[in-house]
Amino acid sequence: MIPFSPPRIDDATVKAVTEALRSGWITTGPRTKEFEKKLAAYCGVDQLIALNSWTNACEMVLRWYGIGPGDEVIVPAYTYCATANIVVHVGAKPVLVDVLDDFTMDPEAVRRAITQRTKCVIPVDVGGMPARIDEILKVVNNACGLFSPKLNLRMAGSNPQMLLGRVLVLADAAHSFGARIDGKPVGSQADVTGFSFHAVKNLTTAEGGALTFNLPAPFDHAKLYALFNTMSLHGQSKDALAKNQPGAWRYDVEMAGFKCNMTDLQAAIGLVELERYERETMPRRKAICARYDAAFAGDKRFILPLFKDERRESSHHLYMLRVAGATEAQRDAIISSVARRGVSTNVHFQPLPLLSFYKAQGCLMSDHPRAYALYQNEISLPVYYDLTDGQVDAVVAAVKAAVKEVMGAS
Ligand SMILES: Cc1ncc(COP(=O)(O)O)c(C=O)c1O
Repeated sequence: MIPFSPPRIDDATVKAVTEALRSGWITTGPRTKEFEKKLAAYCGVDQLIALNSWTNACEMVLRWYGIGPGDEVIVPAYTYCATANIVVHVGAKPVLVDVLDDFTMDPEAVRRAITQRTKCVIPVDVGGMPARIDEILKVVNNACGLFSPKLNLRMAGSNPQMLLGRVLVLADAAHSFGARIDGKPVGSQADVTGFSFHAVKNLTTAEGGALTFNLPAPFDHAKLYALFNTMSLHGQSKDALAKNQPGAWRYDVEMAGFKCNMTDLQAAIGLVELERYERETMPRRKAICARYDAAFAGDKRFILPLFKDERRESSHHLYMLRVAGATEAQRDAIISSVARRGVSTNVHFQPLPLLSFYKAQGCLMSDHPRAYALYQNEISLPVYYDLTDGQVDAVVAAVKAAVKEVMGAS
């Protein structure tokens, strides 16, 4: 069976984790700090904090921005549930909008969805293709007049809603580490960007995530780093490493914080992954996607994913193939047939209105026709470092045979 997305674990990974284990320091420590510095340099930002997942990192952002009951957060209907779940966790309402043909949030739909209750927009870089962040920033800037900040909000001595004076743009870059907008790596465009280093992601730490900050003055990114660091450790004024210094046991608790720090074991994996990311991971992912492109291009039965346009370049996280004219039932039958031929595939994503929880909230699939049209015939094909050209060809053969079986002769 060709798996869908196994992580790349080799001697270098095992050695790095073993060294971290033997170092005697396994929670947040020197490796996490080194990983943060190297990730920040890669993303071209001054501050980056590494945490234990996209989910916890971005939920903290919503809490930092004072988002809660009575507030609305705009999210695309086409995304993984985490994007909307964090909004539910803080007691706010996710407001779903439709997407464009490249699977990313429609800025015009965002414009229509903004109300006086809107506090945040979360565009998602589906499959690694960056969302149209600058168009969404334009939309929220034009809607400043509607924005009504909470007056009594205080976070570390200031009110972030008053300081920004508009809807926050929090990029869901769970898929797009290494993608580019106007030649610059994703991370320096939205107000805050959240990455995921979950096991299936382009760059993994087993579980993990990170935040980058790109907020206008007078926000101070170094202070934001310190604040999020404290928030990620129960609001303690000292982290474990600082408390571990001889005699330095006493600490204060400045807020009822969370517990979502990254460990040095995770960072040890991440440092290996990052070191070879541009040299090995990205070229291989691109080559695999190009091989799929060459195999499916010119065949009218298939709609190929977009990896590049004038301004954006994908991280090549997913190969989101679509079977032209396939219904949801036919797509499901194709996936079963491909599986019988020894290939694991996947679907990214079931739009939120199809999931019981969001259905029960009153979200309607019929409100997001593009999301459904994309979803019903989408099949994500395997893309990972260790996938050989021969396996790519086997995936192509299995998909073509399955499509012929289910949809009839080409
Ligand atoms: C689009 C999207 N957003 C957020 C997440 C959540 O990331 P994490 O598992 O690091 O919390 C995922 C995870 O797969 C995702 O695909």
